[in-house]
Amino acid sequence: KSTQSDLSRLVRTSDPAVRKAFDVEMQSFSKLHARYLAEKENREQLDWNRIKSPNDKQVIPYSHLPQITGPEALSKLAVLKVNGGLGTSMGISGAKSALEVKDGMTFLDLIVQQVEYLNKTHKVDVPLILMTSFNTHDDTLRIIKKYVSQRISITTFNQSRYPRIWKETLQPCPKHALDDKKHWYPPGHGDLYESLVHTGVLDRLLAEGKEYLFISNSDNLGAVVDQRILQHMIDSDAEFLMEVTDKTKADVKGGTLIEYDSSMRLLEIAQVPPDHVDDFKSVRKFKIFNTNNLWINLKALKRIMNGGGMDLDIIVNPKMTDNGQAVIQLETAAGAAIKHFNNAHGINVPRSRFLPVKSCSDLLLIRSDIYSLQNGRLDMSESRMFGSVPVIKLGDHFKKITEFQPRFKKIPNIIDLDHLTVTGDVHFGRGVTLRGTVIVVANEGQRIDIPDGCVLENRLVSGNLNM
Ligand code: UTP
Repeated sequence: KSTQSDLSRLVRTSDPAVRKAFDVEMQSFSKLHARYLAEKENREQLDWNRIKSPNDKQVIPYSHLPQITGPEALSKLAVLKVNGGLGTSMGISGAKSALEVKDGMTFLDLIVQQVEYLNKTHKVDVPLILMTSFNTHDDTLRIIKKYVSQRISITTFNQSRYPRIWKETLQPCPKHALDDKKHWYPPGHGDLYESLVHTGVLDRLLAEGKEYLFISNSDNLGAVVDQRILQHMIDSDAEFLMEVTDKTKADVKGGTLIEYDSSMRLLEIAQVPPDHVDDFKSVRKFKIFNTNNLWINLKALKRIMNGGGMDLDIIVNPKMTDNGQAVIQLETAAGAAIKHFNNAHGINVPRSRFLPVKSCSDLLLIRSDIYSLQNGRLDMSESRMFGSVPVIKLGDHFKKITEFQPRFKKIPNIIDLDHLTVTGDVHFGRGVTLRGTVIVVANEGQRIDIPDGCVLENRLVSGNLNM
């Protein structure tokens, strides 16, 4: 049964422009789907013994990069944020980048400020490009519309929308192009390359004389333009650079960079054979992980896309529909493209370039007095000893943003905090200070209120708080 015929069940719309875009999208999906079916039949297992750790030339320490002499290279640079994902794990229903992170500003506001500051400081005109999805497009436009009259050039383009498939039959869930939103998904940030081509954004950038593209996640507030990396990219003739950073015990799941059959590859946990998952997670064997800050040569991208495109490793993402039916989403990751580029390698960057907000615990940290905003950048306070951040573990009552927000009248002062664990129904008053190791445990059915102005230092609080 051909995949094409499976897709022909999907009735198209009558609007010619929408119809053309839809056809192009379905052709790409069809290719991905066909590859998935072929690989399923003929599962080519990754040979664990052929995996090599990258050597010193394949992952270069940031400190070895050249100092820069001038801003010339910036005139050939564009900045792109992948912004198609929802913050579902934090219970956000719209674009995560529309969430207020600090001082009333959203991720998108901070990104705009970062690029505006770069342009102002160096008297350049680096454009900002936002890749959105059908899930995040409206939220994104709402936020960026206030910048239309500013000097910054912002382009948005919509990434692909692919049909989910039923796990059982592997047939597409939607019946026609306009079928319910729940039957579709944005196929991961690896879709970026196809979408740059299909929307004409790649050609436009090349026509404007742009040669390099800095890509990062819109929720990574540490991903600012770094001119030393850009200069290194030019000097080393690298068509692709991946910023990696040292793994800690908390980063066991992130993808890592490996050498496989003499080329650089991204290895994601989903590709690891089950009996090697512990090896993969080990900090000793795989020392670094991918920050998803990527630098790409646009002419090389054009060459690759014209020459048959990419075959990015497929990530199978199983999901459940609201009425309990199993579906599959076929996705790809942007970093997996590394294998298609010449002289591609990794740069081991400081942890400060990886500052994502993946959970409400991350959000607490970023909203706190540990960080302050400087031109859209988060600076760690100098009063923070050893430049490390506290370990914060908020329990299930704080999982969703709607549960997290009302539990803090104000974010506590945590400049001298090492470790915070909170479980159960706990509420924080205004002007609370937490120091050292603080553990607050409210048992089932109990509520703990930390009063306004309270100072907790190396305290375990459970039951009533008698100050
Ligand atoms: P993810 O949802 O993939 O985050 O979004 P993650 O689970 O933390 O996984 P990592 O960071 O990839 O390991 C990461 C970024 O990719 C964008 C999101 O908006 C976010 O900025 N994204 C995700 C897209 O642009 N499109 C997608 O289809 C998925």
